[in-house]
Amino acid sequence: MTGTDEHCVKVSLAERSYDILIRPGLLTEVGRHLRHLGFAGKVAVVTNPVIGRLYAPAVLRSLRTAGFKTRSIVIPEGERAKTLRWVSAILDELVKARFERGSVLVALGGGVVGDIAGFAAAVYVRGIPFVQVPTTLVAQVDSSVGGKTGVNHSLGKNLIGAFHQPRLVLIDPATLTTLPTREWVAGLAEVIKYGMIADEELFSYLERHMGALLRMEEGPIVHVVAQSCRIKASVVMEDEREADRRRILNYGHTVGHALESLGKYRALLHGEAVAIGMVQEVDVARHVGRCDKEVATRQRALVREAGLPDTLPPVTFSELWGAMQHDKKVAQGRLYCVLPVRVGQVVIEPLERATFERWFASRPREPHRSHSRRRAESSQRA
Ligand code: NAD
Ligand code: GLY
Repeated sequence: MTGTDEHCVKVSLAERSYDILIRPGLLTEVGRHLRHLGFAGKVAVVTNPVIGRLYAPAVLRSLRTAGFKTRSIVIPEGERAKTLRWVSAILDELVKARFERGSVLVALGGGVVGDIAGFAAAVYVRGIPFVQVPTTLVAQVDSSVGGKTGVNHSLGKNLIGAFHQPRLVLIDPATLTTLPTREWVAGLAEVIKYGMIADEELFSYLERHMGALLRMEEGPIVHVVAQSCRIKASVVMEDEREADRRRILNYGHTVGHALESLGKYRALLHGEAVAIGMVQEVDVARHVGRCDKEVATRQRALVREAGLPDTLPPVTFSELWGAMQHDKKVAQGRLYCVLPVRVGQVVIEPLERATFERWFASRPREPHRSHSRRRAESSQRA
C-alpha cells in the first residue's frame, strides 16, 4: 500500500480527548507524532514476537530519530498472554528502566497487545500516557479506540481492567497486508456490525465492495476503517463508560461471547463468534417482530460473502442460555440483548428465557460451517 489522504477522527472527551489518524505509512512517523503531542524522554514499545519482527524496527527507528530513548517489551503471542502475569512483567520493565509519569507506552499490535499494554499504562504510577498503534483489523476498527483496557481472569474474559483512554491512535492500514486471512476476515465481522448498528450507508458500501475488501484493495480498506472509527468514536463520546448507548457495540456479542466461552476460546476467533452471534440475534429480532425478514436476509448474505461462519455449532439450548448469563448486559438478573429494527438501527431490550427458548426450538437445523469446511468450500469455488 502507498500513500492516500490522511483521515483524522476526533474523540472528544474533555481533557481525555485524542485523535485517530489513519493513513498507510504512518508507522514510520510515530516519533514525529509523539513529539508533536509534546512528549519527550522515554518510550517503551510493547509488542509480541510476530508483530515485533515485522514492525518494531520501523517504529523504534522513528522514535529514536525524533530523539526518544526507547525500549521494547515483548510479550508472548495470543490470548493466553492476556493475564496479570504479563502486566506484571511489563511493570517490572518500566520500574527497572525508571519510567516516569511523563514517559510513554506504545502498544504495537492487535487487541491483545493493546488491552494489556493499555492496562499496564493505566496502573503504572497511577497512569502514564499511552499510544495505540493497532495492526489487526479488529484493533484498527474497535479495540484501539475507546479506552477499554484489561486482561482475563482464569474464570472469565476481560474481568480485570480499567478505562484508560489513549493519547493518540495511529492506524497504518498497510500493516493489515501481513495479517493471516482468517484474522482479516474475522475483523470484517466487526465492520459489518457497525453497518448494522449505526450506518446503513456503510452496510450498503460493504455489500458493493466486499470483493475488493477480500482482495485487500487499499481504497475500500481505508474507507471502512475510517468509517468504523467514526462510528465507534461517536458512540464512545456519547457514553464513555458504557452506562447505556455504548452497549450497542455489543451487538452479536451476547450469543458470540457465549459461543467463544463454550468453545474454550479455541474453536472460534472473536470475530467469527460475533458473526454467528449477529446472524442468530437478528433472527431473534425477526422472531419477536422487531425487524423484517429482509434485514436478516441481507445481513446473512453479507456475512457469508465475507467468508464468515453463520450457523450455530452443535450446542443445546441450556448450554447456550447458561453461557449467555455471563454477558455484561445482564442487569438485576435480566439479560438485555441488542436487536436490529432495520439495517443501521438497533434497540436494547430484555430477552426472556421463554422467548429465546421458543426461538431456539423454531429455527431450522443447519449443519455448522466450521473454519475448515468454509476453507474447503472457498477453494472449490476458486
Ligand atoms: P490478536 O491481538 O490476538 O491478534 C491476532 C493475531 O494476529 C495474533 O497472532 C497476532 O500476533 C497477529 N498479528 C497482529 N497483527 C499482525 C500483522 N499486522 N501481521 C501479521 N500478524 C499479525 O487479536 P485481535 O483480534 O487483534 O484482538 C482480540 C483481542 O482484542 C481480544 O482479547 C479481545 O478481548 C480484545 N478486544 C478488545 C476491545 C476493546 O475495546 N478493548 C475490543 C475488541 C476486542
Ligand atoms: N468493543 C466494545 C466497546 O469498546 O465498548
